[in-house]
Amino acid sequence: MLLWSLIGIVLFLIALCEVYTFRTGVPTVTSNPSVRRKMIEILKEEADRHNGPLPFQILDLGSGTGKLALEIGRALPDVVVTGIEISVVPHLLSRLRKLLWGVKNVHFVRKDFWTYDVSSVNAVTLYINDAIRARVAEKLKAELTAGTLVISNESHLPDWTPIATHDKIGLLKVQMVVYRQP
Ligand SMILES: C[S@@+](CC[C@H](N)C(=O)[O-])C[C@H]1O[C@@H](n2cnc3c(N)ncnc32)[C@H](O)[C@@H]1O
Repeated sequence: MLLWSLIGIVLFLIALCEVYTFRTGVPTVTSNPSVRRKMIEILKEEADRHNGPLPFQILDLGSGTGKLALEIGRALPDVVVTGIEISVVPHLLSRLRKLLWGVKNVHFVRKDFWTYDVSSVNAVTLYINDAIRARVAEKLKAELTAGTLVISNESHLPDWTPIATHDKIGLLKVQMVVYRQP
C-alpha cells in the first residue's frame, strides 16, 4: 500500500513537471558542468570589476532545480544570485538544495519571469530554447539597464550582437554566447 502511494506521488510530481513544460515550452534541464564552470569564470571577472554601492546582482532566468544558481553563489560569495522558476517541483527542489548546501547569498523566487522586472540586475544567465528565444530577447532588450551582461547557454538572441562566443565547451561541444546591453 505504502509503495503504491509513493509511486502515485512520484507519478503526480512528474506529471506536474510535464504540465509546466507544456505551458512554458521549456523543459527543466540543468546546464552541463563545463558550461556552468565557464559561466562562473565569466561572472567572476565581471563581478570583480563591479564597484557599485550595492552587491553585484545575478539573475538566473528560469532556474530549474537551482544547481547553476547555487554553484554561482557558492563560488562568488560576495554576489547576490536570484533564481526565478515557475515550475513548482523544480522550485521546491532548489529551495531544498539551498538548505542542504547552506548557501546564503542565493534566493529562489517562484514566479513567471515574463512578469518579473529584470531592470536592477547586473548579469543574467539563460538556458532557454527556440520556443521563447525571440520573446526573451525582446524582454531583455526592453528592460535591462545599459551595461548588463547576458550569458546564454546555446541560444543566440535575435537582434542582439554577441561580445563573445565560446564554442565547443566540454565533451558535448556546447556553445555559449555572451552579450552586453548597450
Ligand atoms: C533549461 S532550464 C535551465 C535551468 C538553469 N537555468 C540551468 O541553466 O541549469 C529552464 C527553466 O526555465 C523555466 N521557465 C520557462 N519559462 C518560464 C517562465 N515564464 N517563468 C519562470 N520560469 C520559466 C522552466 O520551467 C525550466 O525549469
